[in-house]
Amino acid sequence: MLTSENAPAAQTGLSAIRKRFPIFQEYPELAYLDNAATTQRVDTVIDDLDTFHRKRNATVHRGVYTLSAEATRSFEDARAKVARFLGANDPETIAFTRGTTESINIVASSFLKRRIRPGDNIVISIMEHHANFIPWQMLCQENGAELRIVPLSENGDLDLKSLGELMDPRTRLLSVTHISNTLGTVNPVDDMIAMAHRKDIPVLIDAAQSAALYSLDVSKLNCDFLAFSAHKAFGPFGVGALYVRDRYKAEMKPYTWGGGIVKNVTTIQTDFRPYPYNMDSGTPNVSGVLGLSSALDFIHQLDREECRRHVRELSSRCHKGLAGLKGVRVLGDPEKASGIISFCLDEIHPHDVASFLNEDNIAVRAGMHCTQPLLTSLGLTATVRVSFSIYNTPDEVDRLVYSLKELKKFWE
Ligand SMILES: Cc1ncc(COP(=O)(O)O)c(C=O)c1O
Repeated sequence: MLTSENAPAAQTGLSAIRKRFPIFQEYPELAYLDNAATTQRVDTVIDDLDTFHRKRNATVHRGVYTLSAEATRSFEDARAKVARFLGANDPETIAFTRGTTESINIVASSFLKRRIRPGDNIVISIMEHHANFIPWQMLCQENGAELRIVPLSENGDLDLKSLGELMDPRTRLLSVTHISNTLGTVNPVDDMIAMAHRKDIPVLIDAAQSAALYSLDVSKLNCDFLAFSAHKAFGPFGVGALYVRDRYKAEMKPYTWGGGIVKNVTTIQTDFRPYPYNMDSGTPNVSGVLGLSSALDFIHQLDREECRRHVRELSSRCHKGLAGLKGVRVLGDPEKASGIISFCLDEIHPHDVASFLNEDNIAVRAGMHCTQPLLTSLGLTATVRVSFSIYNTPDEVDRLVYSLKELKKFWE
């Protein structure tokens, strides 16, 4: 699954990919099926961070000495790399943030807060992660605006007819996830963006679950804002990126105040640098940004179509295995799903399922997955979620299904 053009032949394929993730050498028996929460770190990200800390550590944009100048160059190269990764032609459309959550909060407070008026509305969907739910709920509450929520249709997809009806001349933003972190549904974001743009409504895409394996070409998607996190794409924690379309850059005001974002400071007032340089108050997460850059280099070597096919095959094997078990309710439409599957076992609480699987060295997540409104709408309080990535194997799926069978036997 590494493209042979970028990697020696011996390094292509699943086992070569898995070898690139040191955690599996540490725990060869671990079936890590919680990739929607965070992916594992690839060796080059770990090595590059180590090299930076040992040999290149300096902060950016401040020093004229060599180490700082080099760190600054690498930091700005990373911005250009993220822009290329997202198909954005201008590096200055990209701000570094702490991750998807912070990126969305930035759009809420730097951009939309200044636009929203009583009687306006914001449209999101019922399948949003709390990160793409609460900032808009708060903004609406604080400004006398209405939060409108696209429901699921009967087959479990987003109800696009309802989306069309909810957006009106008072809609200030449509903010939706590309891939549901609970159902795995891949939303038809191109269509949704086109629908919103016909009404001149800006659109934010939450790409937390898609950045690793899906092509996110903002020039084709035509979205106005896009957010993702490095740690869900083989990179480090605490760093991510925000894309802001040219048209809206001038409206992006600083999100937090402090050094590094200013042009001129007097005792009376401060003039700020423009976006994206007004987003980095304080010392930025330099090593995190370089780790993100390194993760993008790794992703660039992957044949992502092949990787998506691999993950879909694991999902479909898992769906078949689950279908063979009595009393399993799988959420969402398997046909539309990516590598994420949520399910419930009739009489066994998801936390008990996850604890039992942990005894068998299988890491899955149980709970509401930061999507409480979605689960409530489905009459649930928790599910078991398995989520696959490029290094998972068919054998791990079989182990999962086998353990679930054993659990059912044990429970009865
Ligand atoms: C769809 C989605 N959006 C947003 C987030 C928040 O990402 P982060 O915690 O990296 O800010 C997540 C994390 O699970 C997610 O799955």
